[in-house]
Amino acid sequence: MALIGVFDSGVGGLSILDEALRQLPQHDYIYLADSANAPYGEKSSDWIAGRSMVLCKYLASNGCDAIVIACNTATAQAIKQIRAELEIPIIGVEPGIKPAAMQTKNGIVGVLATEATLKSDKFNALLATLPENCHVIKQSGAGLVPLIEAGKADSAEALDLLGQHLAPILDAGADTLVLGCTHYPFLRKAIRKLLGDSITLVDTSEAVVKQLQRQIENRDQDLQSQGRGTVIFISSKNESLLLGMAKDLMFSDLQSHFISSKRLGEIA
Ligand code: DGL
Repeated sequence: MALIGVFDSGVGGLSILDEALRQLPQHDYIYLADSANAPYGEKSSDWIAGRSMVLCKYLASNGCDAIVIACNTATAQAIKQIRAELEIPIIGVEPGIKPAAMQTKNGIVGVLATEATLKSDKFNALLATLPENCHVIKQSGAGLVPLIEAGKADSAEALDLLGQHLAPILDAGADTLVLGCTHYPFLRKAIRKLLGDSITLVDTSEAVVKQLQRQIENRDQDLQSQGRGTVIFISSKNESLLLGMAKDLMFSDLQSHFISSKRLGEIA
């Protein structure tokens, strides 16, 4: 069994952890939420890269065999350097514009992501690989992450802000919407309320966990074990709040794992 670190600026990566527990329940996990510093999406590239490096080193030094950077923003700004410095598999997440380009029927795709992701070289390089007849409408979701961090994903305030952000995508007639931030799957209900059921939502968590599985299979042959491992929730802000939100937001039955939580001390 492997110990897998899952890191995000806050609770967004719980959407990836949820999928990991569904596909790979037998492993042990450390979920690290840097909620004291969320949102990352409006911070400078250098800050995001530096902080992400510190946190991934922390996970590696705590015995992780692999790390999922469960944050599009941190992946865009930091994954290259982190892979260069750490010797364990590092799996990142990026907005699923490639699968969206394959699924769209009318060639119009909306992508909702943080400002830092949208302006990153990594995202723009990915965008350049799309076929020319695919029209992508980029929209920053400014202000949404703090609402989700505050447990207000289903609030009228979130619905209103989301409505403003989705208006240009709706006006352009997109038939496909990429959830380009791991916090946004928690807005699924509000998105459906605003855009209806016909729009295709693209969320890459399933593919990310498949990639994680391939990476750990290379090192670990014992994937057949049917046990359920431990999940340690670590927050730089408030570990009981993190645990409460994990129970609220995730579909996994956390009680069937050995769960614990703790506060992240000074690690810089
Ligand atoms: N979950 C992060 C992402 O996927 C949120 C970024 C933020 O903290 O702004 O981009």
